[in-house]
Amino acid sequence: MVIFEYSEHSNVKSKLYELSDQENVHLSQNLDKLKPKGIVGGDLKWRSGLEYRKTNKEVDLLLTWIESLVPYVAHGLSRRGCEPSSDIKYLDDAFKQNPIEFGGGDEFGFDPFGFTLYECWFVYYRKETELVPHDHFPYPITFVYYINCPEGSAPLILNGEEHTMKEGQLVFFNGHDEHAVPTSEVDGRAVMTGCIAYDRARE
Ligand SMILES: [Fe+2]
Repeated sequence: MVIFEYSEHSNVKSKLYELSDQENVHLSQNLDKLKPKGIVGGDLKWRSGLEYRKTNKEVDLLLTWIESLVPYVAHGLSRRGCEPSSDIKYLDDAFKQNPIEFGGGDEFGFDPFGFTLYECWFVYYRKETELVPHDHFPYPITFVYYINCPEGSAPLILNGEEHTMKEGQLVFFNGHDEHAVPTSEVDGRAVMTGCIAYDRARE
């Protein structure tokens, strides 16, 4: 996993929090319909965050920042650790100079700029709600942005390890990593989460 801090959090928090509460009602209705199939992973219809960005500057600001980090994160994940390069030019030049066949895998067997934010949605946790262990296979990268973390908020459980997250933090991890959120003891934990696909490679 890798964590970033959003410097503009205080400018987007209130709007994102308001949207997350509204969207939760919609999401809950859909989750009820999905229950027979099991509530695990993403769903192809879960693109509401991408719809919001068309009309809401706070959502667009946040998602634009998230997208700008993906090449670094992909590079870090390809090294089987998650220590992204901080040099965007290095990523760009290295790929152009070494456009090997796209076999995937270590470092530049792929295009670090070939990813697309494919799904994105809000989750608002009311008291006594939880998120059961799940993953987002077949997506290669998942992210969670922490909009609101009131005192007593449940942690993130990632691959069995507990992480206490703070407002304004953004975490990326492998799409196949198992994650969960234990039962919330308070209302108001709010996140924006999503999945990133590898869907193109430059010539
Ligand atoms: Fe998830």
